[in-house]
Amino acid sequence: MPLPKRVVLVGPMGAGKSTIGRMLAKELGYRFLDSDRIIEERCGANIPWIFDVEGEDGFRQRETAMLDELSGEERTVLATGGGAVMKPENHPLLKKGAVVIYLKTSLEQQVERTRKDRNRPLLQNDDPVGVLKRLFRIRDPLYCRLADIIMYTDRKSPRLVVRQLVNKINPRTPRHRRQMRKEGRSHA
Ligand code: S3P
Repeated sequence: MPLPKRVVLVGPMGAGKSTIGRMLAKELGYRFLDSDRIIEERCGANIPWIFDVEGEDGFRQRETAMLDELSGEERTVLATGGGAVMKPENHPLLKKGAVVIYLKTSLEQQVERTRKDRNRPLLQNDDPVGVLKRLFRIRDPLYCRLADIIMYTDRKSPRLVVRQLVNKINPRTPRHRRQMRKEGRSHA
């Protein structure tokens, strides 16, 4: 099976999309892209600032424009923001030429991983756990519908998740082939 042109990671805040995406890209010999970070670079401001000044709607417009732009980038692993699945017009942009992976994570893990974070405006309130719960109810069916692969990340190290993903996407990565050549095992 040839490698997909693109790999797109979807899932909630605190699922590990950036950490796993960066490692997976290295493993596949692909470039890693993080749509939130690129939005911030382009805008010259961080996400809390964008939410403050332009509101969530302003951020979502930037997000759609970014997903559109990045949908043409081949040999890439793209980490998306947790809300990227909310707009139906984003769906074809996420799916285009891609294997879409849903990194599925328990509420406990999300809470743990986002607890001290000040960079996620949707969680800066009195009830971040309630917000995560509500978002899960709305978004989980969307993540599932879009995903070609659903990968549970709870109680797994990022390394293990990446290994399992590589096996699902294509057991023969460039690194694997190089290793096989080095060991004199051909046609790997
Ligand atoms: C959001 C998730 C964030 C970021 C923004 C909104 C969301 O990305 O895009 O704060 O709506 O769930 P991460 O999922 O990378 O935290």
